[in-house]
Amino acid sequence: MKQSSKHLELSSSLFFVYLSLILLTFFNLQGPKLLGLAIPVVSGNETDRRALLEFKAKIIDDHFGVMRSWNNSNHFCQWYGVACGRRHQRATMLDLGSLKLVGSISPFIGNLSFLRLLNLENNSFNQAIPQEIGRLKRLRVLILQNNTLSGEIPANLSRCSRLASVNFRGNLLTGEIPGALGMLSKLIQFSFRKNNLRGSIPTSMGNLSSLVSMNLGENILSGVLPEALGKLTNLEVFVVTDNGISGVIPASIFNLSNVRVLHMSITQIHGSLPSDLGISMPHIEILSVSNNQLTGPFPVSISNASNLVELSVWENKLCGNLPSFQNLDKLSRFFIGINLLGNTIATDLNFLCTLTNASRLEQLWINANNFGGELPECISNLSSNLLGLNMQQNRILGRIPAGIGNLINLEVLAATDNQLSGAIPPAIGRLQKLGIFFVSQNSLSGVIPPSFGNMTMLIKLALRDNNLQGNIPSSLGKCENLIGLDLSNNNLSGSIPPEVTGLSSLSLTLDLSSNYLTGVLPVEVCFQQILVAV
Ligand SMILES: *[C@@H]1O[C@H](CO)[C@@H](O)[C@H](O)[C@H]1NC(C)=O
Ligand SMILES: *[C@@H]1O[C@H](CO)[C@@H](O)[C@H](O)[C@H]1NC(C)=O
Ligand SMILES: *[C@@H]1O[C@H](CO)[C@@H](O)[C@H](O)[C@H]1NC(C)=O
Ligand SMILES: *[C@@H]1O[C@H](CO)[C@@H](O)[C@H](O)[C@H]1NC(C)=O
Ligand SMILES: *[C@@H]1O[C@H](CO)[C@@H](O)[C@H](O)[C@H]1NC(C)=O
Ligand SMILES: *[C@@H]1O[C@H](CO)[C@@H](O)[C@H](O)[C@H]1NC(C)=O
Ligand SMILES: *[C@@H]1O[C@H](CO)[C@@H](O)[C@H](O)[C@H]1NC(C)=O
Ligand SMILES: *[C@@H]1O[C@H](CO)[C@@H](O)[C@H](O)[C@H]1NC(C)=O
Ligand SMILES: *[C@@H]1O[C@H](CO)[C@@H](O)[C@H](O)[C@H]1NC(C)=O
Ligand SMILES: *[C@@H]1O[C@H](CO)[C@@H](O)[C@H](O)[C@H]1NC(C)=O
Ligand SMILES: *[C@@H]1O[C@H](CO)[C@@H](O)[C@H](O)[C@H]1NC(C)=O
Ligand SMILES: *[C@@H]1O[C@H](CO)[C@@H](O)[C@H](O)[C@H]1NC(C)=O
Repeated sequence: MKQSSKHLELSSSLFFVYLSLILLTFFNLQGPKLLGLAIPVVSGNETDRRALLEFKAKIIDDHFGVMRSWNNSNHFCQWYGVACGRRHQRATMLDLGSLKLVGSISPFIGNLSFLRLLNLENNSFNQAIPQEIGRLKRLRVLILQNNTLSGEIPANLSRCSRLASVNFRGNLLTGEIPGALGMLSKLIQFSFRKNNLRGSIPTSMGNLSSLVSMNLGENILSGVLPEALGKLTNLEVFVVTDNGISGVIPASIFNLSNVRVLHMSITQIHGSLPSDLGISMPHIEILSVSNNQLTGPFPVSISNASNLVELSVWENKLCGNLPSFQNLDKLSRFFIGINLLGNTIATDLNFLCTLTNASRLEQLWINANNFGGELPECISNLSSNLLGLNMQQNRILGRIPAGIGNLINLEVLAATDNQLSGAIPPAIGRLQKLGIFFVSQNSLSGVIPPSFGNMTMLIKLALRDNNLQGNIPSSLGKCENLIGLDLSNNNLSGSIPPEVTGLSSLSLTLDLSSNYLTGVLPVEVCFQQILVAV
């Protein structure tokens, strides 16, 4: 019985192949659509051809006309963006990135059963990702990044058991992350970044045992981070930035010893950072937990995280001392601003001297903390690659070290609202790339050094609320990029140099009020926010 039924099956499919060959010859000119509809069983390559033509049919705009090559005069394996396996002549790759294609993804895509790669990156595919995608059993790489796909992530994607890489970044996907995706045991990386996904991160994500990179940033995910994520021992990149995630970070996550990138900024996370973080995550390169509600001390063991490139704990409620950063010679971006760090004592800024080996340091933002003490001389030995130094809103005392002039690539120097005193060192004029110099609300005295005229890239200069005296140097007139100048509430005297008031760039602010200046401003001066008084 069994044998005969098998025989029957075989002969019936043979019959259909035979029939299709006959029909092929008959209806060749009528096109594949008709053929496909007419014959219930067709040969594999015809299925591919039909699926591709259905895919083409859903494309409503083809700016570069690449789909014109998808015609009957050549084999579909020759069509633009299609690649076939050598043996079977079946479509194995559909690679149509950056072609300004507009349309939806036909459900027929699910019939390309040999497909291993589907890349539609940087186009304008819209509507939902069809559930039929789950029929692509051989699919390994799925890139739909940067389109306008909407609807939910198809749960059937979980049936593409060979998937290694999925990228849906930058679409309009909604709904929750399907829990079934936890079945993708071969998944190495996925990004759902920049969509509108809501709900919590499914616990099943902890079952993605091959996962190296997970990016869920810029969605509206909520709930807590599942403890189970601590099972992802291969994880190197973990990004959940910019979501509504709350609760504490499970200790198991800090145990993931291969993590290089931990990006959890702009969420509702609270709790503290474990003191052994730098030891439990020895490979960490980017630690970004800014804009959260983290409390407690700064993790001392960060001293051991010698691969750290970016340290960003900006806008939290961390308190206490900072450890040594002596071994962190790869540090480039250091953002610890807007916390409760420092104890308003003389030794608070000693940590700055441990950063002098960080030869790639570009940003050093320590503003809005409780740092007291003097600005150490060693800042002259910070990397000359430093672009931004922000110390605003602390309790920093004493003089601005002349050695600051060594930081010749500085573009931003901000120290507003501290207790700096003494004269501004003339060496400041060496900072020829400085665009922003803010030292308002301090106790600086002495004259404005004429060398300010050397800082020809200056865009905004604010020296308000100090005890500066003497004349306004006419050399300031060489700062031809200056849009804002605020020298108000000092002891400046003498006449206002016409070189300064004549600066045509000044368009934002010119405030010389509350000084002892004489002279007039030209009538043609007209600003958005004039606060001028002599
Ligand atoms: C399908 O395969 C048959 C036989 O292998 C071949 O003759 C035919 O040209 C193929 N058609 C397409 C569209 O690839
Ligand atoms: C069919 O595609 C070929 C290139 O593959 C192209 O040269 C030809 O012009 C196309 N035919 C039509 C009718 O667009
Ligand atoms: C998509 O666009 C980005 C940014 O313009 C670019 O880096 C990337 O190479 C593009 N991808 C493709 C497949 O062209
Ligand atoms: C291919 O896919 C479509 C839509 O998912 C389906 O209707 C059709 O029957 C499938 N099979 C073939 C052989 O085209
Ligand atoms: C998205 O794709 C467009 C082309 O469609 C490209 O210009 C843009 O740079 C891409 N953006 C990103 C972030 O890849
Ligand atoms: C989705 O998967 C279910 C099984 O989980 C299956 O029954 C259904 O046919 C699939 N849908 C499509 C459109 O492939
Ligand atoms: C994870 O996998 C295990 C073992 O296969 C299974 O028992 C468990 O239900 C899965 N967990 C989730 C949340 O899917
Ligand atoms: C962290 O790892 C250590 C050693 O592998 C283990 O003993 C400990 O239970 C783990 N802690 C958590 C919270 O997973
Ligand atoms: C961490 O750094 C400290 C100080 O540099 C050192 O004494 C200690 O051995 C380091 N620990 C590990 C686990 O590397
Ligand atoms: C800089 O590095 C050298 C050599 O690695 C080391 O001896 C010195 O203590 C470091 N200095 C600082 C301030 O970190
Ligand atoms: C800057 O570094 C040099 C060389 O390491 C050292 O001799 C000097 O004392 C340092 N200056 C300051 C102010 O720390
Ligand atoms: C800087 O300014 C001072 C005073 O205006 C001037 O003597 C000096 O030559 C200038 N230095 C450079 C490098 O421009």
